[in-house]
Amino acid sequence: MEIFTMLFVFTSLLFSIPSISTTKDIITPSVSIRDGETLVSSGGSFKLGFFRPPNSSNRYLGIWYNEISPQTVVWVANRENPLTHLSAGALNITDQGALLLLSDINRNSIVWSSNTSRKFIRKPVAQLLESGNLVVKDGNELVWQSFDYPTDNLLPGMKLGWNSKTGLNKVLSSWKDADDPAPGEFSFSIDYSRYPQLVVKKGPRAQYRLGSWNGLGFTGSPELRSGNELFKFDFVSNDSEVSYKFELLKDALHSRLLLNLSGSLQRFMWVDKSQSRNIIYSAPVDRCDTYNLCGAYAFSLCKLGTDPQCSFLQGFVPKSPRDWNSKNMSLGCVPKTPLGCSTGYRFQSFTRAKLPDTSSSWIDTYANLDISEGGSGCLLWFGDLIDIKEFDSGGQDLFVRTALLDDIKTSKPSGVKKKVAIIASVGLLVMGVIILGLVFYKRKKKLKKHKVEIN
Ligand SMILES: *[C@@H]1O[C@H](CO)[C@@H](O)[C@H](O)[C@H]1NC(C)=O
Ligand SMILES: *[C@@H]1O[C@H](CO)[C@@H](O)[C@H](O)[C@H]1NC(C)=O
Ligand SMILES: *[C@@H]1O[C@H](CO)[C@@H](O)[C@H](O)[C@H]1NC(C)=O
Ligand SMILES: *[C@@H]1O[C@H](CO)[C@@H](O)[C@H](O)[C@H]1NC(C)=O
Ligand SMILES: *[C@@H]1O[C@H](CO)[C@@H](O)[C@H](O)[C@H]1NC(C)=O
Ligand SMILES: *[C@@H]1O[C@H](CO)[C@@H](O)[C@H](O)[C@H]1NC(C)=O
Repeated sequence: MEIFTMLFVFTSLLFSIPSISTTKDIITPSVSIRDGETLVSSGGSFKLGFFRPPNSSNRYLGIWYNEISPQTVVWVANRENPLTHLSAGALNITDQGALLLLSDINRNSIVWSSNTSRKFIRKPVAQLLESGNLVVKDGNELVWQSFDYPTDNLLPGMKLGWNSKTGLNKVLSSWKDADDPAPGEFSFSIDYSRYPQLVVKKGPRAQYRLGSWNGLGFTGSPELRSGNELFKFDFVSNDSEVSYKFELLKDALHSRLLLNLSGSLQRFMWVDKSQSRNIIYSAPVDRCDTYNLCGAYAFSLCKLGTDPQCSFLQGFVPKSPRDWNSKNMSLGCVPKTPLGCSTGYRFQSFTRAKLPDTSSSWIDTYANLDISEGGSGCLLWFGDLIDIKEFDSGGQDLFVRTALLDDIKTSKPSGVKKKVAIIASVGLLVMGVIILGLVFYKRKKKLKKHKVEIN
């Protein structure tokens, strides 16, 4: 009899061991996780659990890479409401499908919630996916996902930007400091008030622009291009969505785009389990990326390695030569000869340009601006040309219409292999003149030059 009982205990132990040791990736209304327990995504890439920043005693619910050390947190739930080190935190899911972060599993004190509650929900399940996305599903229906609430990291497949269905504008925001994941000063978002462009801001003020999408990449950032063998970039802009995301083309790779504490973007890339992380891209690239460095009414151009860094477009003069000469470029430049409707005009070309800010001008488009399949179209600016930079290589040719003056030599666009991609028309309405510019896209295989080294 005793042997029988022992055998029974033994076999039941044997059977229960696997269910304890297998990692789980879901929580249900009857199974929660407590501080100390974790969820691991099915392929082992990501882990969800409670963590504490290195020099802090506060605890947070977050998602980090499972096999990469030091611990790299990519998402934080309770950014602004930390748990104290004394609390025994727990993550529950309610019958209505809302995730609840409790500071004490027994006392029902809610520190954070996923803010979802649907009336008709049958069997809500929260699952940590292999992409690093924490989702709440009811059957096949997606109820909530952490990818809709980014922290400071953009992961493959995660969208930045606006979506009419959820009404959410997804923005990255930096941590406050190395020990505090609360939203800091810097944000990375798509400014879609006019013609969409990527911009990093400090509070409400633009810090630098990565520019607009042209089908291949962002015009202000020659590095962020599709067409290499590692990444695929995707940009959508229509009535229901304005978004940007990237995908990795090889399974063994990991990559993330971080908005770091000092407001820079850093793209990390590494191979499975390898502990060497490589920063393959960072922005801003140089001082000329600083937003509007060359003045508010700028028909001026920032170029590295020149003194002064700001120069003015041919046919334009500093608005205030005295200020300009004493290196105060804040007033920028104005056309030398006002361009009236009856005045003759010509086009001037500026090669390797970062296209002007689209938020400060009135922009109009016609035809297809996506030049990835050889299309061509027009982009019209009506207003000031702000934040133009000259790249060392890459960039686009910018053609600005100015008054016909004998002393201006127009240069022929060199090396333009594609047809006119974009025509930009600039009307300086304040001055009652219209300046028409053409922008050529110069397709150079510069992307290949940007070699990625992986150890
Ligand atoms: C959270 O889950 C645990 C275990 O499943 C349960 O005992 C507790 O009552 C739940 N708390 C709430 C607030 O739902
Ligand atoms: C933690 O504190 C130590 C000592 O003050 C400091 O050297 C270290 O850089 C800090 N780490 C972080 C991540 O802030
Ligand atoms: C929760 O969602 C509602 C409706 O979508 C919204 O009005 C409210 O501000 C949200 N609350 C929080 C804390 O996010
Ligand atoms: C916007 O683009 C997305 C992705 O291509 C597509 O699913 C959606 O139907 C489009 N919406 C409209 C209104 O065109
Ligand atoms: C942020 O990224 C920039 C560019 O890579 C780097 O110079 C800077 O040190 C980083 N800041 C922090 C706090 O890591
Ligand atoms: C630059 O010039 C503008 C306009 O004249 C003036 O308002 C501003 O104070 C000047 N800035 C500096 C740093 O001198």
